[in-house]
Amino acid sequence: MTARIIDGKAIAAEVRAEVAAGVAAFVADGSPPPGLAVVLVGDDPASHVYVANKVRQTEAVGMTSRRYMLGAETTERQLLDLVERLNADPHVHGILVQFPLPPEIDTVKVVSTISAAKDVDGFNPLNVGRTATGMKGALTPCTPLGVMRLIHSVHADIAGLGALVVGASNVVGRPMARLLLQEQCTVSVAHVLTTDLERRCRDADILVVATGVPGLIRGDWIKPGATVIDVGITRITSSSGTERLVGDVAFDEAIHVAGAITPVPGGVGPMTIACLLANTLSAAQAAKEEACAPA
Ligand SMILES: NC(=O)c1ccc[n+]([C@@H]2O[C@H](COP(=O)([O-])OP(=O)(O)OC[C@H]3O[C@@H](n4cnc5c(N)ncnc54)[C@H](OP(=O)(O)O)[C@@H]3O)[C@@H](O)[C@H]2O)c1
Repeated sequence: MTARIIDGKAIAAEVRAEVAAGVAAFVADGSPPPGLAVVLVGDDPASHVYVANKVRQTEAVGMTSRRYMLGAETTERQLLDLVERLNADPHVHGILVQFPLPPEIDTVKVVSTISAAKDVDGFNPLNVGRTATGMKGALTPCTPLGVMRLIHSVHADIAGLGALVVGASNVVGRPMARLLLQEQCTVSVAHVLTTDLERRCRDADILVVATGVPGLIRGDWIKPGATVIDVGITRITSSSGTERLVGDVAFDEAIHVAGAITPVPGGVGPMTIACLLANTLSAAQAAKEEACAPA
């Protein structure tokens, strides 16, 4: 068997086209375009690349973007003041603070200060709770949201399937498990102390891996025909000095066993920004509905 490759680039392009159509309809209805504010603290080169990508893709779908580049010496108070100003700004519908933040700044405090209505990353505790309970209108973390869309490109209905999420972070693993459970998968979550990971993987109809451990999941750990989503991205440098990105799944082995699999790069990565754009449009639509609702 050779697995079907799930083309994250193509599916992300579909999501961006849907968002662009939604933005055009929003503007045609007399509203200013949705606006995303992206805040970066410090000079981490990878974060600069991510922010530039987000800004470019935001503008490409017809939304406005504002970029706030703050120096590494920025204090927590200064960052919280900026977030509060953006919370109050009616032209800003989505606020994204790029992580990692300098260690002196309390990430949880920052995330909790972003208005839940503008929290397009979905990390504010209110949105975490709303996502966990399946509340309508929750802003859901972008990577798990994108993974669900990739899974649905293979399975129209996942109810009753067995899913294993390897990795239990607040950014990926935990919200991922909650979304799968909402669609009535039977979900397990594995982490560093999980025993017998190999056997647990072999039971999974849907295997989502988000650990940051390159090649952790071997081909013969995979249930034949399973859908495998590799969230992991690690940059490795070969002895000749060339760099490449690798995932958490041994792709060359897994492709002979899985039914469908995401590549790295070109799988989950492109979906994350596309879902950020979708969340920003949703936030703008919700703000408009609230403004139009009778008092
Ligand atoms: N494509 C994208 O857009 C995107 C977005 C986000 C993240 N990522 C990538 O996804 C990966 C994970 O990101 P993250 O933010 O979730 O990382 P993280 O916060 O470091 O969490 C990693 C998780 O994996 C678990 N883990 C680590 N080693 C393991 C092992 N040997 N067996 C089982 N579980 C293990 C950890 O368990 P404990 O909880 O027990 O420590 C933890 O729950 C990274 O490569 C990251 O770059 C990609």
